Amino acid sequence: MPGREIRLRAGEQLDAVLRNDLPEPTTLHWHGVALRNDADGVPGVTQAAVAPGASHRYRFTAPHPGTYWFHPHVGTQQDRGLYGALVVEDPHEPLAYDEEWTVVLDDWLDGVTGTPDEVLRELRRGMDMSHPGRYMLMGATSLLLGGDAGDVRYPLFLLNGRTADAPDALRAKPGTRVRLRIVNAGGDTAFRVALGGHRLRVTHADGFPVEPVDTDALLLGMGERYDVLVTLADGVFPLVALAEGKGGAALGIVRTGAGRAPSASTRPAELERKVLGYRQLAATPAVRLARRRPDRTVTLRLAGSMSTYEWTIDGRRYDPAYRIPVEGGERVRLRFVNETSMWHPMHLHGHSFALGGAGGPRKDTAIVLPNETVVAEFDADNPGLWMIHCHNVYHAESGMMTVLGYR
Ligand code: C2O
Ligand code: CU
Repeated sequence: MPGREIRLRAGEQLDAVLRNDLPEPTTLHWHGVALRNDADGVPGVTQAAVAPGASHRYRFTAPHPGTYWFHPHVGTQQDRGLYGALVVEDPHEPLAYDEEWTVVLDDWLDGVTGTPDEVLRELRRGMDMSHPGRYMLMGATSLLLGGDAGDVRYPLFLLNGRTADAPDALRAKPGTRVRLRIVNAGGDTAFRVALGGHRLRVTHADGFPVEPVDTDALLLGMGERYDVLVTLADGVFPLVALAEGKGGAALGIVRTGAGRAPSASTRPAELERKVLGYRQLAATPAVRLARRRPDRTVTLRLAGSMSTYEWTIDGRRYDPAYRIPVEGGERVRLRFVNETSMWHPMHLHGHSFALGGAGGPRKDTAIVLPNETVVAEFDADNPGLWMIHCHNVYHAESGMMTVLGYR
């Protein structure tokens, strides 16, 4: 892990065969791609889950260049290491850079026995410390509580599948202009990312170009991607992804010259400086959503609590038969109203919305902070059945997921 990166060019067709060698059913979802609905990989909605030993062919055209990723849409399989980056290249790439590096971040619960579904079941049963599954339970609990579960073994944080005590070395010559494609594939962790000794020029959010902004650090919720450009100085520099609210971090070593590798606990000062938020971002003119009065406003009330561990959208746990009504051709305004004390990275399939309204960055995943309301607009121009859900895999699996459909 991560799985082998898949690359294609915008406008090209991907033809991929998923062979299920797992002991349980699975699918593949191509996160962020405005693809044909029947390739979206949602079991019971766009396809039947692929049985153990069976195969499924996915064929779709990727219309927009950008940084995407893929993962199963069954249970919490994504959180057990099944994910990879999907890069859709721009045949007319306007950015000038020498190299590009994909950086995939993850939170990893090591030593878990039992399936993730068992973990969830345990959680619902309550946090009984005397239970024999305590170790597993406490691990998952610390994930879910953001690391506040006391002296339990901590989740590991991974950068391209490696822990901070055996980090990946990314090598280049000094002066190299690198494009970093950063993906948060974690199940339950937001990462604050910085490269020691450098500022980052943000060029893309969730694959779509933004007016470039310079920042010291970036925050990525689960499912989010950012592309940044950076011109490398001479030396050895830590690329740190701090697990927000949890204390640990994922690490990569950027090496352009001589010097000792930074330690696993290194925390560059850039992490504490300016952290970019989506409100500072605007779509470039080429991908800006035209101003238009919304035809429909869909309010999505996010509710639930840690004590019951039931998460809902509009008072409803996930029901694959329910549809948020939308008509094809409409401009839809989504309002995410967070009534919980947790934050939720809300993701829409098959589209990119303008976050904050027309003019805002085009994204498919948006962080909605506790007690905050976030609006996002999109054009219903890709018919089918499309999921809207929290990208905390445990929240999604516990009900915070719904379907929007139109012809
Ligand atoms: Cu990456 Cu429905 O999700
Ligand atoms: Cu959530």
